[in-house]
Amino acid sequence: MNPLVVAARAPLRGVMRVPGDKSISHRAALLGGIASGTTTVDGFLRGEDCLATVGCLRAMGVRIDDDGARLVIHGGGLREPEEVLDVGNSGTTIRLLAGILAGQPFHSVVTGDASIRRRPMDRVSTPLRLMGARITGREGGRLAPLAIDGGGLRGIAYDTPVASAQIKSAVLLAGVFADGETTVREPAQSRDHTERMLAGFGVPVVRDGLAVRLRGPATLRGTALRVPGDLSSAAFFLVAAALVPGSELTVEDVGLNPTRTGVLDVLVQMGADVRVSGRREEGGEPLGVVTVRASRLRGTVVGGALIPRAIDELPAIALAACLADGETLIRDAAELRVKESDRIAALARGLGALGAKVEPRPDGLAIVGVPRLRGGTVTSGGDHRIAMALAVAGLCAEAPVVIDDPACIQTSFPQFEEALHRAGAA
Ligand code: S3P
Repeated sequence: MNPLVVAARAPLRGVMRVPGDKSISHRAALLGGIASGTTTVDGFLRGEDCLATVGCLRAMGVRIDDDGARLVIHGGGLREPEEVLDVGNSGTTIRLLAGILAGQPFHSVVTGDASIRRRPMDRVSTPLRLMGARITGREGGRLAPLAIDGGGLRGIAYDTPVASAQIKSAVLLAGVFADGETTVREPAQSRDHTERMLAGFGVPVVRDGLAVRLRGPATLRGTALRVPGDLSSAAFFLVAAALVPGSELTVEDVGLNPTRTGVLDVLVQMGADVRVSGRREEGGEPLGVVTVRASRLRGTVVGGALIPRAIDELPAIALAACLADGETLIRDAAELRVKESDRIAALARGLGALGAKVEPRPDGLAIVGVPRLRGGTVTSGGDHRIAMALAVAGLCAEAPVVIDDPACIQTSFPQFEEALHRAGAA
């Protein structure tokens, strides 16, 4: 794939939409696959990550029709896959699928690309073993490939050490197939799409503070779903609009689940002009319209309970901090080190190469704003959100920014480059 070249041009203006939410798309496919009857999904994200989820389900006998507009999932039982299940780059697929596979009375092996094979899997294999699944993997089950012999599960009460929707969801999905009550308590609230969607499939999930619980075994009934636009994808454009003088950009039909809107709170904290309108709910998920107008930003502190609510947007937030007045501290975000890449190192390296003052910390970044970034050639290290953050940096730089390896953007935002052009930006 050719390098992606992004140069500062016009302000970002107009109205846009972004592709479907990645987290919700994964869940729609997975829950549709294990539900009885038919599930239809409109607005499904056809990025590589979610297509990997579809591929894994098909490999277990689930018929999924896609006419390009709507996904139709013919649910029912899963059957033992003949092949190794390949999740590609998708952490959500391997972790949520591990929960489902733990509940199946068959043998499966699941793995992914080099990034996936470096990421910690003990965070799901530990609780799933406590429920009765037999899971092995490299380094004692810490690393993929994972081999899973499932079935015969019992419900557990599990306190997760990290606020992670992937861990919570893996345990809850295993809980669907387990006998008795399954409870997950997390140290801070992570995204709650699984809980909301399970309710839509007829399986109530009870919340009690930071704990959620359900009773198994439970039967999911197929349903009709519409996926809102992905706020995590929109974030790159919203930050660009805040930074590029003269911009005024509106993103319609974008997800506004409060467990995901930390980026909007951080932008407001930084003095950005952010307006939210047209709030509504579809299929249990809030969505609406977000408009951002350019303004001077100031440094801030991002930490604590805000982190899980903004975890995927921290690369975009880091870019905003590079051009804000004063200092920004991103802390309590050590999870960034175990994403698609070590995002703390990648941001310090990539933004630093463009003239930003970014210091990596064990659990985040300390950033001092500069008036302008310079251009240059940078690499994403195969991480889609790093690639997009660096691309947007190009809109704020004195000379073009060249991203050497932009193919990874396909994992979550297939039309990113086209969207940049349409917003008048690249
Ligand atoms: C996701 C949860 C988050 C997020 C990831 C998607 C999900 O990961 O970073 O992009 O869909 O559940 P963690 O649960 O590991 O924090």
